[in-house]
Amino acid sequence: MRSKILLVLLLIFLSLQATNPKPSVSPLNAFMATSSVAQTLNLSSPPSQNLDGEDDLLCSESTQLSEQPDDYEQQRLSILHSPSGYLSEDSRIEGAWAHWKKLGQPKLIVAPMVDNSELPFRLLCRKYGAEAAYTPMLHSRIFTENEKYRSLEFTTCKEDRPLFVQFCANDPDTLLEAARRVEPYCDYVDINLGCPQRIARRGNYGAFLMDKLPLVRNLVEKLALNLNVPVSCKIRVFPDLQDTINYARMLEDAGCSLLAVHGRTRDEKDGKKFRASWNTIKAVKNAVRIPVLANGNIRHMDDVQNCLEETGVDGVLSAESLLENPALFAGFRTAEWGLGSGEYMEDGKLDQADLLVEYLRLCEKYPVPWRMIRAHVHKMLGDWFRIHPQVREDLNAQSKLSFEFLYDMVGRLRELGLRIPLYVESTQVGRMSANGIVT
Ligand SMILES: Cc1cc2nc3c(=O)[nH]c(=O)nc-3n(C[C@H](O)[C@H](O)[C@H](O)COP(=O)(O)O)c2cc1C
Repeated sequence: MRSKILLVLLLIFLSLQATNPKPSVSPLNAFMATSSVAQTLNLSSPPSQNLDGEDDLLCSESTQLSEQPDDYEQQRLSILHSPSGYLSEDSRIEGAWAHWKKLGQPKLIVAPMVDNSELPFRLLCRKYGAEAAYTPMLHSRIFTENEKYRSLEFTTCKEDRPLFVQFCANDPDTLLEAARRVEPYCDYVDINLGCPQRIARRGNYGAFLMDKLPLVRNLVEKLALNLNVPVSCKIRVFPDLQDTINYARMLEDAGCSLLAVHGRTRDEKDGKKFRASWNTIKAVKNAVRIPVLANGNIRHMDDVQNCLEETGVDGVLSAESLLENPALFAGFRTAEWGLGSGEYMEDGKLDQADLLVEYLRLCEKYPVPWRMIRAHVHKMLGDWFRIHPQVREDLNAQSKLSFEFLYDMVGRLRELGLRIPLYVESTQVGRMSANGIVT
């Protein structure tokens, strides 16, 4: 009897579940939505009414919005017709282009790289064709609080222009304070909206702000309204094209003067595994009016040419490939990309050991932490170490490095008879100047 009652109760429960399905909002989504609102309420400048729905607007998986197309359209229009209005927007866009033109419209740009796009490396890349460069990402809060961090992590010199100084941030006032300290030394203050690493999730910055767009808007507006140099943003793309376009337009509307688009999503962390989407970058370029830079898949100058043609962007960033080959923008290729292109490539009379020696000389002039130097040695000489692993082992055994040790190490590789040339197209060989740069 008791078991019969239990069975009837179970059947009633199941039929209620079938007729009243739970809303498909996961506890995580609910948490993100509340935390985003809480964040917004804490900010010094309150978000405008238009922004309340932006998180949802850009979330293509939001069930709520797909059930309410009218709301979606209303929110979309409210973003496009934001309070800044078209007239002032026109003049802002003219200003963004005037600034870009004043800088000489650099096309070949060193991407921001933590511990890797520091001053000596930027100068080396500039010598070999880079027309502008980003600093590594700097942490805005630590930058405002810690003098030692500032002096170690941010150095520059007068040849180091045009320069983007990049910060990660999640508080507009702190970001502004950090930005004010660097604005006399740079051409853009850049906001990192693309870092996908766990540390960025924990620190609530980078690509994890893609879940908190009202905050992103506040960060951009704060700088755009208060700084003397323009603000730029480096973003990743959303899985959905329209979300990415809305995102880019929101940034432009908030006062961003230049947008660098890394054509991979937040989940596509491995650059070797996932190709960046140039189609998405092209769509962003067509959707906004400020200068746009493309990032992803730039390994040599043919990629640069193809990317500029296919996307119509105003310039390109390169990261990983420049670490191996800082002379990439001068037309040099590593054997991986040089030899594969067949009979048109020739020894460019320059190799990665030459570049490393030049880099070390720059480090002697402009000191940087040894961990950065060590990272560059491994990147530039990776192929060389694969042939002579014992040289790498000796390097790894050094808990403290010295320039003497590193110059000797290059000498030792040479004595071992090793030389892995960088290649150039044979038509360029005749145009080499004495220092190896294609003129
Ligand atoms: C060592 C390293 C450090 C990086 N640090 C940053 C950074 O500080 N800020 C940033 O926006 N992106 C950073 N990135 C990402 C690059 O700027 C770039 O977006 C990414 O590597 C894709 O470009 P690529 O395909 O040319 O490598 C870093 C990449 C590398 C390899």
